[in-house]
Amino acid sequence: MAYVVTENCINCKHTTCVDVCPTEAFKEGPNFLVIDPELCVDCDLCPAECPAEAIFEEDDVPEDQLGFIELNAELAKLWPEIATSKDALPDYADWDGKPDKLKLLER
Ligand code: F3S
Repeated sequence: MAYVVTENCINCKHTTCVDVCPTEAFKEGPNFLVIDPELCVDCDLCPAECPAEAIFEEDDVPEDQLGFIELNAELAKLWPEIATSKDALPDYADWDGKPDKLKLLER
């Protein structure tokens, strides 16, 4: 089991989640982060750190976000590790809660 980053992270990317991760399981893309399911140890620390409420335990991923389980696993193999937080994307406030952001995901 692992935690999963879902759609509301796209174009927000606060990155505060990475500071609490004990296994450096977060991987960074241009406008989204994912969790490597092979590194996640289910510590439950990161969801509370996400202002966008984008992180869910795999069993609790909302029905319309289930595709993000595979997407996290896929992109974790391609993207580099991020172990320290940085500034959120500049217009994160405009994107928070916007629907249908998956099409905006940059790889
Ligand atoms: Fe994304 Fe939330 Fe982390 S917006 S980068 S999952 S703190």
